[in-house]
Amino acid sequence: MASRVLLLTAEGHAADELVQPLERRGLSVVVARDPDQALQRLGDHQLVILDAPDAASLAMVIRRINDQAGSNHPPILAIAHSGDVEARVQLLESGADDVLARPIDPRELEALVEALLLRAPATTQTSGGRPPVEPRPVEARGRVIAFASAKGGSGTTTLAVNTALILAEMAPGNVAIADFDMYHGQVSTHLDMYPRTSTAVLAREDPNNRNPEVFQEAGRRHSDGLTVFGGPYRGDEAADVSGPQLASLVQQMRGLYGTLVIDAGSVIDLRAEAVIESADMVALVLTPDIPSLRLLHAGLQLMSENGTATDRSVFVVNQIYPKQMITAEQIEEHLGVKVGAEIAYDGENFLRAINEGQPLVKMARRTPSATALRKLAEQLTDSAAEPSESPPQRRGRFRFLGRD
Ligand SMILES: Nc1ncnc2c1ncn2[C@@H]1O[C@H](COP(=O)(O)OP(=O)(O)OP(=O)(O)O)[C@@H](O)[C@H]1O
Ligand SMILES: [Mg+2]
Repeated sequence: MASRVLLLTAEGHAADELVQPLERRGLSVVVARDPDQALQRLGDHQLVILDAPDAASLAMVIRRINDQAGSNHPPILAIAHSGDVEARVQLLESGADDVLARPIDPRELEALVEALLLRAPATTQTSGGRPPVEPRPVEARGRVIAFASAKGGSGTTTLAVNTALILAEMAPGNVAIADFDMYHGQVSTHLDMYPRTSTAVLAREDPNNRNPEVFQEAGRRHSDGLTVFGGPYRGDEAADVSGPQLASLVQQMRGLYGTLVIDAGSVIDLRAEAVIESADMVALVLTPDIPSLRLLHAGLQLMSENGTATDRSVFVVNQIYPKQMITAEQIEEHLGVKVGAEIAYDGENFLRAINEGQPLVKMARRTPSATALRKLAEQLTDSAAEPSESPPQRRGRFRFLGRD
């Protein structure tokens, strides 16, 4: 029988109090004492339990697992040596999925292990495989949530990728993210996985030839059950791709997934507008600085002249600066819109997440920005399911800095 649980514990530590309750539940437990050897066999297990003399050593092993396996490792249960809140937070922030404090209560151990094992099948899938694609019935076409901004570097890709992962955690296999940034797609970079083709190639294809096999070939399955469609890599790769081609691609893709998250990039031109217009919900990401507000004002004018997507938009202020100089109220006043969500500043974790290809909601799950991202995901899905009867924004009502 394949072993399900790996218990990595320090030399000389008794393992019985952890092993026995689990074996009584019919789980097979492998006890390892040597981290180097154990970490090489991570993929053989559905859950890792870490037990070490102190929180710092535990955090170090957790980081090693994350460094080695990215997000593609089994869930981690850390055994803390006291109920100390600081130690617990440190372990969760290092990447533990849950923490159990000594003295061990066998029933609590069993309950936590059961809960973590439920998450294991999606978490331990091999990353990078081709995802199965089944067309959905017309009446069950998926919802489309697009992320866009008017200024580069606002965090659009960061927010789109994290939202997609949160949604995929709830419905593994039923969520896809597609990079529709036609200038420099970075969704793959954020997830550290590199599909062979791009949405630009798919968009150019005759829609009649885009059958489920084409999508199966083009997408890649992230270890968390998220299907990933990469965007163009070079700035000139999608120069000839048109808005209608992109909109047609969105329509086809929504027939394949329960939720399709789109990164529409950071330039609101007519091409991006066509993509945004196809979405059920749009997260318009802005940063609290004047250039971002000016560009978004222009983008909103273009959007409201060419469609109705502003009626389905949530304005998300992303605090990419350590010091806040423009408040949400000032933004609301200047743009004449309602700020729907704010993502807290977390320079270190967001940068680490990008550089390591492991999004923040996986790497630092308990931070304020991860919490805000989960709230945003909820807000976008709720709104997409039940379109507001009286949308807060209307066409042509944007005003900004006295210029219209
Ligand atoms: N809330 C935040 N706090 C601190 N840094 C952040 C935050 N959100 C995003 N960042 C950082 O901002 C940078 C830009 O993020 P990202 O690449 O997602 O932006 P973008 O709008 O997609 O950019 P592009 O114009 O290149 O497409 C990244 O280094 C990211 O780590
Ligand atoms: Mg981007």
